[in-house]
Amino acid sequence: MSEHSDLSPETLAAQALHYLDRNTGAVVPPIQPSTTFARDEHYRLISPVHSYTRDENPSYEVAEATLARLEGAASALLFSSGMAAAMSVVQALKPGDHILIPKVMYWGLRDWMVQFCATWGLGLSQFDPLKPGDLAEHMQPGLTRLVWVETPANPTWDIINIAAAAETAHEAGALLVVDSTVSTPVLTQPLKFGADIVMHSATKYLNGHGDVIAGALATAKEDDFWLRVRALRAHQGAIPGSFEAWLLQRGMRTLFLRVHKASASALKIAQHFLGHPALEAVLYPGLSQHPGHAVARAQMRGGFGGMLSLRIRGGKTAALQAAGKCRVFTRATSLGGVESLIEHRYSIEGPESPIPEDLVRLSIGIEAVSDLIEDLEQALA
Ligand SMILES: Cc1ncc(COP(=O)(O)O)c(C=O)c1O
Repeated sequence: MSEHSDLSPETLAAQALHYLDRNTGAVVPPIQPSTTFARDEHYRLISPVHSYTRDENPSYEVAEATLARLEGAASALLFSSGMAAAMSVVQALKPGDHILIPKVMYWGLRDWMVQFCATWGLGLSQFDPLKPGDLAEHMQPGLTRLVWVETPANPTWDIINIAAAAETAHEAGALLVVDSTVSTPVLTQPLKFGADIVMHSATKYLNGHGDVIAGALATAKEDDFWLRVRALRAHQGAIPGSFEAWLLQRGMRTLFLRVHKASASALKIAQHFLGHPALEAVLYPGLSQHPGHAVARAQMRGGFGGMLSLRIRGGKTAALQAAGKCRVFTRATSLGGVESLIEHRYSIEGPESPIPEDLVRLSIGIEAVSDLIEDLEQALA
């Protein structure tokens, strides 16, 4: 992999940092399935970093190095899932530490934190990112060690000001971690705005083809906290398989094309359906009417992401009916793939969910946007 520092991120991603196999000239990295790595006659490891795959595997290196470059990070790590990546951050904290999370974020992670933080001796509070000053009010100086934010936040696409959140977190001695799954490094580089760690469900846009479960973290500093996260990954075995890591580096080569296409289509769809008589609201940070639009413009570049939500007039029944009538959108969970998906989040999250019952979430893929608009038009008719 080359160290070119003057190339644009699109080039770095497309070429996987100009990968070339030194022995064969291959432009595609190999998959290394070995779980163990040999030592020489003096009992020295043949490769100093490779001993056992639960610690490190050569198949992770291309995706990790590429993500670190795209995020402007000191280092990146792959995990077996986005949840495993997030949990490693939480579990690297110490008993008595306090975590602050937003009220609206990926529900699976919020649910896990609500159920299990106490088991780990961790305090947990939630703040309302739409209420100015609410984050600062909930900080517990001396105790709050981690502020977790997600922007745009699933599935209302609220925008959190990363620079402001970093300042508040750092003033109280806490770390700021940003779940940037939806933005991807194509649209936002949270470390540049002061975040300490960026987290991705690599299952989504980074891989982009709906065939890998993986997660990733990228850090501003290789400090003691990062070493604890790295050790947790190894001890817990929260590592991806070699083939999954290989698929992920392949998917990342088209990341820019996919994210730009999905973002452009999502904006067109949001603009087309704004004010539609069958809708209560269109939630998309690229619309000037969206409350987070100004902050989104400042911290996102080249688009506002491929995710939007529609609030359907007529509540839950009408929302489910509209989803049921779609023929081009597939009714399925997840996001960030090449095919467009529609999902009724309330049905997935259940009665504890803060998500309105009339909301359907759209993950926009790379299909012709005219087909997607026509499909939604007939579904809303
Ligand atoms: C924003 C966000 N963060 C984290 C996760 C969890 O990632 P994974 O499913 O890869 O464990 C998801 C999954 O839907 C997500 O959408």
